[in-house]
Amino acid sequence: MRVLALETSCDETAAAVVEVAGGGRRVLSNVIASQHELHAEYKGVVPEIASRAHAERILPVIERSIEEAGIGLGEIDAVGVGHRPGLIGSLLVGVSAAKALAWSLGKPLIGVDHIHAHLYAGLLGTDDDVDSVYPALGFVVSGGHTAIYRCESPVEITRLGATIDDAMGEAFDKVATILGLPYPGGPNLDKLAREPGADECAHDFPISRLSRASLDFSFSGLKTAVLYAVRGVPDREGRFERTPDDLTHAERRDIAASFQKACVSAATIKLARALDQPLDHGSVRSLLVGGGVSANSRLRRELEKLAQGHGLELRLPSLEYCLDNAAMIGGLACERLRRGLTDDLSLRASPRGVDAQPKPAA
Ligand code: KG4
Ligand code: ZN
Repeated sequence: MRVLALETSCDETAAAVVEVAGGGRRVLSNVIASQHELHAEYKGVVPEIASRAHAERILPVIERSIEEAGIGLGEIDAVGVGHRPGLIGSLLVGVSAAKALAWSLGKPLIGVDHIHAHLYAGLLGTDDDVDSVYPALGFVVSGGHTAIYRCESPVEITRLGATIDDAMGEAFDKVATILGLPYPGGPNLDKLAREPGADECAHDFPISRLSRASLDFSFSGLKTAVLYAVRGVPDREGRFERTPDDLTHAERRDIAASFQKACVSAATIKLARALDQPLDHGSVRSLLVGGGVSANSRLRRELEKLAQGHGLELRLPSLEYCLDNAAMIGGLACERLRRGLTDDLSLRASPRGVDAQPKPAA
């Protein structure tokens, strides 16, 4: 089974060819055209710029993915596409291209939820039987999402908790800006916090636990604590005492390391809580993790420890599949195809994920 998959939900134009055969999941090509350079001067993604760039890049990216896979377009079994959630103008480019391809080739079209695809990223390139991985606890940690899931299979996923304000990646990006680090903030902050001599205990930043059994996250208090550590508490007119330029390199590095430690602790506290709840205890075999922040060095280390402590197999994506990519869309599309879960040309792009869709009327 071989799927050509497209991903255009945010600021990466991506296409991949993924093959699932004899239990293994092989990525034959994984092409990503990043738009970072177009958005850097705005310190964030500008939706109109993103959709225009997708429209310009999608065809060359598809052509390259087919070429690198060493196949002809006629040799694919279906076309998969990330159709939710994301920026609507960006999603529309991928969904329109996927519909045109599926229709012209006479192949099935498969809409894939971007967040659920992040949970599949850790299985790409592995050979073991996919059914042996489930049931699993899932953790998606990206620039737009931070949530915990119960996964019965790659296509049966229930959300247990999510952030009530910023996503963890968003908090990394905002704190990086507060510290005066260049865009994209998350990886630069990770790099700074890893420098020799970084003291992660220099600041005792708050970790929001919310109510006793809550599996939700909140990062806004932590972000404000970092802002005050960098610039001082503002006066009545909202004026700050200091600017990020007043920090020494060592102070900036220690704040980055202390912030990263607090963020990662928030994640491991909530995951341990989920694993200790009667619903999940004992029955979960693996911990599936995905999303851009799963590239974070400290998070990866701590998740290893957590999984080991709970006797779980940890499925962390290799670094190339942490950030947005089409290979994860292709992998999950294969799973949907295997179960006959295909779509027709009425498939719609949606800015909201499945967890935020209105329930169908009874
Ligand atoms: O999954 P992704 O590519 O896009 C979304 O679906 O949101 O995630 C991008 C996010 C950004 O916020 C970026 O700063 C963060 O992932 N990120 C990191 C690291 N690498 C990427 N955050 C912390 N440490 C990293 N090494
Ligand atoms: Zn993503």
